[in-house]
Amino acid sequence: MSRPAPRRRETAALVRAARAVRRRAYAPYSRFRVGAAVLAGGAVHVGANVENASYGLTVCAERAAVAAAVAAGARRLDAVAIATGTAEPTPPCGACLQTLAELGGPGLPVVLAGARGARVETTLGELLPRGFGRRFLRRRV
Ligand code: THU
Repeated sequence: MSRPAPRRRETAALVRAARAVRRRAYAPYSRFRVGAAVLAGGAVHVGANVENASYGLTVCAERAAVAAAVAAGARRLDAVAIATGTAEPTPPCGACLQTLAELGGPGLPVVLAGARGARVETTLGELLPRGFGRRFLRRRV
């Protein structure tokens, strides 16, 4: 499951894509716009958060980006960038971490891009240590 680390240029392109799609977020209730871009098989797939008057139906940007990647045929994520407008770059919510883990794994590079160029580079394993995954489905006794 090892993957080559994304190059600096790929990471920069991923952050640009996440920042660009963030502008298309539909967030009339929270006004908290999020953009996400995933790199999979050399292609970039993007998603933005989509809110709903029935608040619980909101779809996060990260899960929208993963859905776009899967719809394009991807099965394995190579990197992800998440753009928000916060001074401290925002990590994905628990549901999105779990979704990223399904197709990413602990080594998945995650770039958090906040306002004014603020950036944190981390991994999924750091954000979701000891996460649930398919391997536990086979561990019943
Ligand atoms: N949101 C995301 O898009 N991704 C996350 O990981 C956390 C939260 C969105 C959902 C909602 O539209 C807004 O941010 C405020 O929670």
